[in-house]
Amino acid sequence: MTIKKFKNIFKKELLNLYPKQEIDNFFYLLTYSFLNLNRIDLALDPNLEIVFEAEQKYHSALAKLKKEIPIQYILGATEFYGLNFKVDANVLIPRPETEELVKWVIEGVESRKLKVKSEKLITNNKFRTQTTNLNIIDIGTGSGCIAIALAKNISNATIWALDISDKALEVAKYNAKLNGVDIQFLHKDILNTKKFSVKFDLIISNPPYVRELEKHEINNNVLQYEPHLALFVKNENALIFYDKIADLAKKNLNKNGQLYFEINQYFGNETKALLLKKGFRNIALKKDIFKNDRMIKAAYLL
Ligand SMILES: C[S@@+](CC[C@H](N)C(=O)[O-])C[C@H]1O[C@@H](n2cnc3c(N)ncnc32)[C@H](O)[C@@H]1O
Repeated sequence: MTIKKFKNIFKKELLNLYPKQEIDNFFYLLTYSFLNLNRIDLALDPNLEIVFEAEQKYHSALAKLKKEIPIQYILGATEFYGLNFKVDANVLIPRPETEELVKWVIEGVESRKLKVKSEKLITNNKFRTQTTNLNIIDIGTGSGCIAIALAKNISNATIWALDISDKALEVAKYNAKLNGVDIQFLHKDILNTKKFSVKFDLIISNPPYVRELEKHEINNNVLQYEPHLALFVKNENALIFYDKIADLAKKNLNKNGQLYFEINQYFGNETKALLLKKGFRNIALKKDIFKNDRMIKAAYLL
């Protein structure tokens, strides 16, 4: 069969489930993965014959898309912050809003380095011995996307990544190797962690924050296939992770240390109030590209 003919079948079979543009995207992603051909290659050679093995792969992917299995799980891979990541059903598929969080953290580190550099210049390096080496921890690392993207973009940092799920940690370890970075992995339940033996300059977390009552707002493909351990919290204790991580941060942040969270869009003000009440200052809420409250940062001034 020619690729053009198969593309038509593929589209027809999925049209009642997905928007047209998304189907096109699926097809191009699969074609790149199976045949190593991109969009332009296809346009130039629409009558290309697909061999039997490739056709089988397309049919198997099509059957999975019909069951609404996310394309990233079908491919076993995704991209985050310009890097390649393995994903499977044990880890949340990294989201674009989390890329915004990573960008915010990196910008913060850059301006902090500039500040330290200028302070060093002012004091002519005589009195200050502060180094720019940072201790960073990512709590609830999942695929490792936050920790790994930070490791790739921040030099002179020691990075830890923690998760309760050993299966998620296996994926995160694989991804650290894939991207050639060194991360210290911790298998822990953060809700039952009293203290860390290390002090951190940055604590970052995208913890579970979707209330059970928000389930009806969630797409079928997320609800059916992404790990609920990564997503949901009890309705009556929606900020449980923020509360616990903020308490740990008070004990485990270095001087001028900062806390960064991805947050539930409905809890911007509540999360801010929680941090304020615990003594955090310089609190900033930030919206994602859809104008929803999505991130917060705070400092604990010792
Ligand atoms: C929203 S996901 C974030 C995954 C990844 N950091 C990302 O941004 O795509 C939350 C993660 O927290 C982990 N998690 C859930 N409960 C936890 C707990 N009690 N202690 C530590 N990690 C937990 C889940 O396994 C999941 O990987």
